[in-house]
Amino acid sequence: AQRLAIMGAMDQEISILLEALNKPKVTTRGGIDFYTGKLKGKKVVIVKAGIGKVNAAYSTAVLTQNFKLDGLIFTGVAGGLHPEALPGDIVIGTALVQVDFGLLDAEGFTPWNFRDLSGEPHPELLLAADSSLVQLSLEASKLADYQSISRRQPRVFQGVISTSDLFVSDPEKANWLYTKFNSLATEMEGAAVAHICRLLGMPFVVIRSCSDNANTDAHVNFSEFVGPAAANSANLVLRMVELM
Ligand code: ADE
Repeated sequence: AQRLAIMGAMDQEISILLEALNKPKVTTRGGIDFYTGKLKGKKVVIVKAGIGKVNAAYSTAVLTQNFKLDGLIFTGVAGGLHPEALPGDIVIGTALVQVDFGLLDAEGFTPWNFRDLSGEPHPELLLAADSSLVQLSLEASKLADYQSISRRQPRVFQGVISTSDLFVSDPEKANWLYTKFNSLATEMEGAAVAHICRLLGMPFVVIRSCSDNANTDAHVNFSEFVGPAAANSANLVLRMVELM
């Protein structure tokens, strides 16, 4: 085994992992700080990418060019789109799709990956996660310690996660992302990480916990739940590393 990479976009998304990191060492490359050490006895490198697709793609590129890696896990929060997804719930990304890549004209925005097709996402732009990492995430999700955010235990969903450079806070846009892309959650980094990993043949998975439902309450919910939701995702990742 070489090293496992764990990436988040914000401090809240990696703080629990950094606290659990044994003998941490910081290495700065390309302006990005990488934290190496052992997590549950396994060699890891943890990085905060920053928000959005450009940050995510850049950090993934610098990361993969500077460390010998077995795989990459992205952990963080997302806007839940599935009608039954509540804050705190887990979404394991089996595939990632960029939804703000396309054509802007008088008719409005048309995602490029749907331009020549009706309904189904273009296979090149629906980026599948590594099936072993997905399987491991599912196993870990049954063992993880979760914070209680909503009135029931967190539910675990698996399916498509959509990515754009936009924080979504509108129920109609959320429904469009759910129906058009079949995506269960929406966020701002996953598909960019997936794209770079695919170019390099790097196994990856994206784990998210819902901080909000991408609706009119999204900003308020995000502020309240970003901490505990990020913790739910990070705790799942800790269990995953333990199972490896
Ligand atoms: N991350 C968390 N909530 C989000 C939302 N509503 N839109 C995009 N990214 C998010």
